[in-house]
Amino acid sequence: MTGACPADGLSEHGIAPGARLAEPGRSARPRVLFVSHTGTMSGAELVLRDAVRPWTDARAFLFEDGALGEALRGLGLETRVARRGAGLSGLRRDASPMRALPVLKRLAAIAVEIFGAARDCDVVYANSQKAFLLSALPARLAGRPLIWHLHDILDGAHFGRVQRAVQVRLANACAARVVVPSRAAADAFVRAGGRPSRITVVPNGLDLDLDPRPQTALRAELGLPAGPLVGVFSRLAPWKGQDVVIDALAALPDVRCIVVGAALFGEDAYAADLRARVAARGLAHRVLFLGQRADVPRLMQAVDAVVHPSVDPEPFGRTLVEAMLAGVPVIATDAGASAEILDDGAAGILVPPRRPDRLAAALADLFADPDAVVARTRLARARALSHYGAAAMQRDLATLILQVSGRP
Ligand code: UDP
Ligand code: GLC
Repeated sequence: MTGACPADGLSEHGIAPGARLAEPGRSARPRVLFVSHTGTMSGAELVLRDAVRPWTDARAFLFEDGALGEALRGLGLETRVARRGAGLSGLRRDASPMRALPVLKRLAAIAVEIFGAARDCDVVYANSQKAFLLSALPARLAGRPLIWHLHDILDGAHFGRVQRAVQVRLANACAARVVVPSRAAADAFVRAGGRPSRITVVPNGLDLDLDPRPQTALRAELGLPAGPLVGVFSRLAPWKGQDVVIDALAALPDVRCIVVGAALFGEDAYAADLRARVAARGLAHRVLFLGQRADVPRLMQAVDAVVHPSVDPEPFGRTLVEAMLAGVPVIATDAGASAEILDDGAAGILVPPRRPDRLAAALADLFADPDAVVARTRLARARALSHYGAAAMQRDLATLILQVSGRP
């Protein structure tokens, strides 16, 4: 594989051999092609939407249309959609490569389209795993440097062995830069065999325009009474761990919970299991499922604590930062990037993953003495503002794009 995409001789700026560099008379600004496999907005696509803001003259290529396509077009990007890409994002990312066989022809057609689009651009920027896998060879053949924005933890919890090996080899061989949102994601990439020299950590940045709302008004809007209320704000998926919160609630008789988010990528069985679990524990009057919402940071202000219960390492977790910015106490599992984001527990409470008993104990402590977390919550907000702003992310990504394009 290394032979197929020889990126070993990258320059100090990570410029791929054969990359088309700045020519006299050409615009100093590279034309970027942003590639995404899905049109559905989860964290990685929200990051892409915010990352492209300074690149309104860029192009985008999506495997399928959707909310992301709408957002990119709205920002002015010339956005093309693959002719036969619809539904491909449903291919499970941890599936065996054999599962991709029946759709190989469609994948090949997408790669050909990416090749054509790449030739009209100076830099290819692949957002997430599938976009990278299908962009690697086309970018190489077109002689364009490739940036992979990796939004995953490449470990055994999230990917099979073969999948990890394919991804890191392709990255080592073809990617001028691999951007990750956290140290945890960088370490996992290196542990999986990725070259440390390829990696740049660019923390996700958010730009929240939050109107402070009184808790009572929001509770009334949701039809919820006063009293202890926690919230989980994530798409429904087994590794996001909403089931652990439900189990913890069984031990906290007075506490209610709102569960915000939907099964975005086919995890309907898990969503049904969550509802069944609530019924089985006799919690139907205390757990409210609100589905997918467009006002997450606003809703966060209705709760006394945001719980982030991921059971497998989280690459980043935008919802953590949203809660910090909303000024709400956070209890998160210590897996992946949460310890980095929460400053090792100084800006939020860390509990071990998959431990409803420890989560229940942490929530009981919080409700017994809410004043004890006021300083922590204030620190969390200041930290979110200083470390996780959208402008810093855009600036860091722009620097990388200019470097790989040879136009620093
Ligand atoms: N989100 C949303 N509506 C919902 C649930 C989540 O808009 O009902 C947003 C949430 O506010 C956050 C993003 O989806 O900005 C999820 O990003 P995160 O990095 O936390 O996790 P991901 O789902 O990407 O793994
Ligand atoms: C992925 C990760 C999430 C991260 C997001 C943006 O969806 O699961 O942790 O915040 O990408 O990087």
